[in-house]
Amino acid sequence: MPLHPNHEMKILFLDQSGQLGGAELCLADLAQYYGDRCRVCTFAPGPFPEKLRQRQIAVEVLAEQGLKFQKQSGAGQAVKALKDLGPLIYRVSRLSRQYDCIYANTQKALVVGAIASRLSRKPLIYHLHDIVSPEHFSNLNQRIIVTSANQAALVIANSKASQTAFIAAGGRAELTHVVYNGFDLDKYPANPQRRFSPEEISEEAVSSPLRPNLGSADQFVVGHFSRLSPWKGQHVLIDALQHCPAPVTAIFVGGALFGENSYTQQLQQQIETLKLGDRVKFLGFRSDIPALMNACDLIAHTSTAAEPFGRVIVEGMLCDRPVVAAAAGGALEIIEHNQTGWLTHPGDPRKLADAIMTAYRQPELAAAIAQQGKAMAQQRFNLKDINAQIDQMLKTAL
Ligand code: UDP
Ligand code: GLC
Repeated sequence: MPLHPNHEMKILFLDQSGQLGGAELCLADLAQYYGDRCRVCTFAPGPFPEKLRQRQIAVEVLAEQGLKFQKQSGAGQAVKALKDLGPLIYRVSRLSRQYDCIYANTQKALVVGAIASRLSRKPLIYHLHDIVSPEHFSNLNQRIIVTSANQAALVIANSKASQTAFIAAGGRAELTHVVYNGFDLDKYPANPQRRFSPEEISEEAVSSPLRPNLGSADQFVVGHFSRLSPWKGQHVLIDALQHCPAPVTAIFVGGALFGENSYTQQLQQQIETLKLGDRVKFLGFRSDIPALMNACDLIAHTSTAAEPFGRVIVEGMLCDRPVVAAAAGGALEIIEHNQTGWLTHPGDPRKLADAIMTAYRQPELAAAIAQQGKAMAQQRFNLKDINAQIDQMLKTAL
């Protein structure tokens, strides 16, 4: 039965992860908007359900171990994973009776949600945060995603790039709508002090408690904010550093959220080989992203595979920092090259070094680009507008 236009919609959100990845941070903001009219079920414990609890959002952790099926898994692992899914599907279909829809935020959540939705006859919504392509998923996984998502009443894609890949993989075009991630503009206060010229750097260094920890006043700090994972391309920035003079340093903010420990070791090895130890810092996972971005001179995004959206790009802009990003996927929809940021060829350290040097040598240009980026980001990615847009879409779809 269709919902009355004034009906206060109740939503059961599903997310497989207990970690704070971009998809989970996006969901945390949406769940906050629905408040006590929603519940979030995760399939693993961790900082994500913790954060939701702190925000007074009803949370249930449905599986203590997490599910073993990975993005590149094949048929053997799929059969094993099915065993774990049974109890989850049962629980979700029971819970969903108290809600108007099941809203899946990740792939495993989609599989569970699609079957539970059939059992409980509650409509399924899928928020697609990924590019469904061989670059990111095994063939089997792509088929599972598309088949499950095609049962949904609505597929919300986080970018045109994600939407296009989904349709190319067999997803039903008429179901999909693009909604970019939104950001709470209050978390990015106006920051009149800039650090683009040497004199200003010294002033800022005195007033910012973070700056001395990140690098001395005369250093040019490039900030990289991403979980440590091969396709996020931290190695490209390290490689680029050797083509930049010594005052250019880098900080890496983010943890190996999904167990990519061998990549972390590989990065350490690379730094040692290139003798860059005194120009690179790893800060691990942090919650004070705007403050850290404010203490950087440039924000670099270096994904080697197409980024589905790229929250960090927008966050850098909202912090009034110039951003250089790898030209693929969502980054192309966020940045207009030379206007609101810089785009470089994915995986090309020399081109990245050129962009870093432009920002380093031309502070006025960097400041102008940062300012244009900020104005654009405030206008297009305001959380209030984005939440209202999703709410309206859900009402129409249901
Ligand atoms: N982030 C964070 N702490 C960290 C590193 C990253 O809170 O130490 C946040 C970052 O601010 C961004 C999100 O994690 O909001 C990453 O989202 P993005 O879309 O850039 O990439 P994803 O990891 O989701 O692919
Ligand atoms: C995913 C994507 C990332 C996107 C985020 C939020 O984690 O990898 O590109 O920004 O979801 O939609």
